[in-house]
Amino acid sequence: MGPNLSTTFTGVRFRNPFLLSSAPPTESESNILRAFDAGWGGVVTKTIGLHPVVNVVGPKTKFLRADSDSPHLSMKKRPGAALHSSWNWELISDKTLDWWVPRLGRIKAAFPDHVLVASVMAGSGNDTELRHWQELAVACQTQGCDALELNLSCPHMDRPDMGSNVGKDKELVSIVTKVVKEVAKVPVWAKLTPSTTDIVVEARGALLGGADAVVSSNTFTSLPLFDAETLDFEINVDGLVSTGGLGGPAILPLSLAKMSQLTQAFPDKSFSGIGGISTFEHALNYFLLGCGTVQVCTAAMLDHAVGPNVIRELNAGLTRFLEKHADKGWTSVADVVGLRRDRVVAQSKIRRPGEKDYRGGYEAEGYAEEPAIKN
Ligand SMILES: Cc1cc2nc3c(=O)[nH]c(=O)nc-3n(C[C@H](O)[C@H](O)[C@H](O)COP(=O)(O)O)c2cc1C
Repeated sequence: MGPNLSTTFTGVRFRNPFLLSSAPPTESESNILRAFDAGWGGVVTKTIGLHPVVNVVGPKTKFLRADSDSPHLSMKKRPGAALHSSWNWELISDKTLDWWVPRLGRIKAAFPDHVLVASVMAGSGNDTELRHWQELAVACQTQGCDALELNLSCPHMDRPDMGSNVGKDKELVSIVTKVVKEVAKVPVWAKLTPSTTDIVVEARGALLGGADAVVSSNTFTSLPLFDAETLDFEINVDGLVSTGGLGGPAILPLSLAKMSQLTQAFPDKSFSGIGGISTFEHALNYFLLGCGTVQVCTAAMLDHAVGPNVIRELNAGLTRFLEKHADKGWTSVADVVGLRRDRVVAQSKIRRPGEKDYRGGYEAEGYAEEPAIKN
């Protein structure tokens, strides 16, 4: 018998700590059923809202690739080029709540032991909008969803009271979370935007509102690149573009920096890490910083839409890892969660080659609270 891959996160038992994040891989019943068949421990549905959305004409996502032998970076598919990032301007699910409700129930009935998380989003400008969050939450949990993820982070919503515009406002984050918690019978996760100065501020708002976990990162606000020949953006409609979101390998280190801030600020809270994961080694970064689960989007999109090879590798990687470290007494991923959280420190705490103190740029006498660093 191999090692035990299961874990418990916000009170919910997962057969493994790997989820598909809210995105195209989880936009339909058939995709989600295929994902569970393939071995994902959980899925977060494509974000469900009450407002009908209409996406732009043409592609909603493209992939930026880098050449190995030149600095060329482009969305044009070229042999030998390696994935750099995904770029998307896709809105939330274009299916209605009525469409989702029976499907959520059927998915849960077919896979009662797999974790189904409903991602939801509404406005937050007035009481009616706030009640929409409750309506969405109640409808999804009634169908058996195991948890709710609040989308406070979509980077391309025009409305000032939606998506990352909510996620940038600690009070709104807190209010929305509290409103959902009033009706929630299942854990509530808050998915925050990385596009703020100090994500700890908004996370505190979510936790004060009662969030059971904080999730990060959604995609990073970004533009596609211009094509130097045509002087048009590589993805555009009628020559125009709006800001969209960057995901995939390029955001792994960026997202880790956000996660490190979060887990250090709230070492006793639960975190789900997202951003740039396609192998177990990537996921391990998030576990070591303090995440109890991780989520994947871009890598799965490029692997038969729901990532059957990605999840196989993630499970195999965790198995290998636990077998290799069995002598340390590690029996599940929970044993390494947060193990390296405290390895991220201020610059002035990093050892210098000689005894000359670097004092973070401060004069020695103005730097009294910290003792001089000894080699
Ligand atoms: C095409 C596309 C659509 C997405 N739609 C949603 C969404 O509806 N709700 C949400 O919370 N995140 C959405 N995301 C963000 C992903 O869930 C994820 O947070 C992000 O892509 C970073 O993960 P990755 O580096 O594995 O791609 C979307 C991402 C992409 C690429």
